[in-house]
Amino acid sequence: MKKIETREELIKSYIDFFKSKAHKEIINSPLIPENDPTVLFTTAGMHPLVPFLLGQEHHLGKRLVNVQKCIRTGDIDSVGDASHLTFFEMLGNWSIGDYFKKEAIEYSFEFLTKILDIPFEMLSVSVFEGDKVVKKDEEAAKIWKSLGIKDERIAFLPKENNWWGPAGKTGPCGPDTEMFFYLGKKPKGNPKTNEKEWREIWNDVFMQYNKNEAGNYLELKQKNVDTGMGVERVLAVLNNKKSVYETSCFLPIIKKIEEISGKEYGKDEEKTRAMRIIADHIKASVFILAEKVAPSNVERGYVLRRLIRRAIRYGKLLGIEENFTKEIAQEVMKLYKDYSHIEKNKEFIFQELELEEATFEKTLKEGIKYFEKLKKEAKKVIDGKTAFLLYQSYGFPLEMTQELAKENNLEVDISEFEQEQAKHQELSRTASAGVFKAGLADNSEQTTKLHTATHLLLSALKQVLKKNIEQRGSNITAERLRFDFSFDRKLEEIELKEIEEIVNKNIKQNLEVKREEMSVKEAKSSGATGIFEHKYGDKVSVYTICNPKDVISREICCGPHVTNTKELGKFKILKEEASSKGVRRIKASLE
Ligand code: ALA
Repeated sequence: MKKIETREELIKSYIDFFKSKAHKEIINSPLIPENDPTVLFTTAGMHPLVPFLLGQEHHLGKRLVNVQKCIRTGDIDSVGDASHLTFFEMLGNWSIGDYFKKEAIEYSFEFLTKILDIPFEMLSVSVFEGDKVVKKDEEAAKIWKSLGIKDERIAFLPKENNWWGPAGKTGPCGPDTEMFFYLGKKPKGNPKTNEKEWREIWNDVFMQYNKNEAGNYLELKQKNVDTGMGVERVLAVLNNKKSVYETSCFLPIIKKIEEISGKEYGKDEEKTRAMRIIADHIKASVFILAEKVAPSNVERGYVLRRLIRRAIRYGKLLGIEENFTKEIAQEVMKLYKDYSHIEKNKEFIFQELELEEATFEKTLKEGIKYFEKLKKEAKKVIDGKTAFLLYQSYGFPLEMTQELAKENNLEVDISEFEQEQAKHQELSRTASAGVFKAGLADNSEQTTKLHTATHLLLSALKQVLKKNIEQRGSNITAERLRFDFSFDRKLEEIELKEIEEIVNKNIKQNLEVKREEMSVKEAKSSGATGIFEHKYGDKVSVYTICNPKDVISREICCGPHVTNTKELGKFKILKEEASSKGVRRIKASLE
């Protein structure tokens, strides 16, 4: 196998390979999805591509490739095993209505066996066994066979294994074929017959359906391919490592934890798992913080809080008494120097970690004491009210209480906890409870209009409040836009009125929304705003709205947008509120 030790080398060889197959590199998008309101975080490379998978034209064409930073919280219980992570990097290639099964599989096979030199005997695949909606994928199996994969290495599996998406509630999805690497020496069977011995490394999804709100699968206009390959997993394979934590993406972090705790990695199962969890959670926290999300009790902030607190608790299990998250974060930063937005927000990251650690430190001991008392009193179940008290007064994330309970052979009444939480905090939505109610990641007229309105809103904010206001997040549903921006006080009624008026004045001027393609450098020098610290691909789209005298808005953006502001209707601000420290939020609609 090819000797590739670092993430940088692997990423480069992947992107170069797909470029040689006429793919264009797209940006590594923010972790907070801009085009998909159905999820809290970018969980796969396809999120930023939702509008294009649903039919919109992408300015770079029909063949795309990138590396995408991702956060997945659904696997949190598995984190610490050999292959599951909260933060990871995903390599992906896409066909937006261009090639389909044959080329997708052939490219995957060529990259694995020719570029990475993985012996094909060490590989197996799974394909969709079929259901009422979609038939058995004989076609994919046949293509694999034509490449030399033997029958016994092909597993036909049901929907829970071989169907991907939608990532949120609605959106593009389809059957997939997955590739596996054998963990032992002499390959046996396939992922169905010898499940534990094969590790998934790559997934090719044949996205040809759109799942709607009603739960129906509608055939898409075009047939897409969406693939995802885990950087850390492939590095583990290429370097003959048992787990992702022993690759170069983790080793220095693990070393640091060994140093701080005085414990050795790999000796004792429980301690090893604790070290892995700390490494994973602090890495994920650094990336979330780098997008200016602060710990809180709602949505992303709550995911972040859970990660930091869980890491701290596992630190205690290792006997770490002093504050340590900052030191670990420093190691993470060294490993991911190529993400300049982390460096840019370094101070914020350290400050928030230290603050959270100090806050939690105060209550953790008390909470543990309370828990000890509880243990003696509780029969078998910790009721929801008590779990909520631990959450509310001692800052224990629910899953931490669950873990503590499990360690002591107790259970937690989760549904009562949830009722209790709903009573106290109507708005609080935990990440595990699924995300935004409405949000449809669709390509409808209304979301397109709201997207353009967002650009006009940012421009008006700059005009009324101050020039250097920056976008901190955007979330659009068919009903409303929600826009987060950097500003440190409540807006006055009169300011809101003025902002609204400016947007409406610009709408009424019937201004053209012009799209141009250029390099990032050209975009920057033309004065376009955008999140420059995120990596951009070769070319970017710049959307400009101007009147004869002034440029009103000029932003790097993937769209979609209307072509003229006259299509927008009347802009109305519905609400202005705090989002997190130093960030305000405006919700607005078009009538
Ligand atoms: N979107 C697919 C996945 O995440 C490729 O597995």
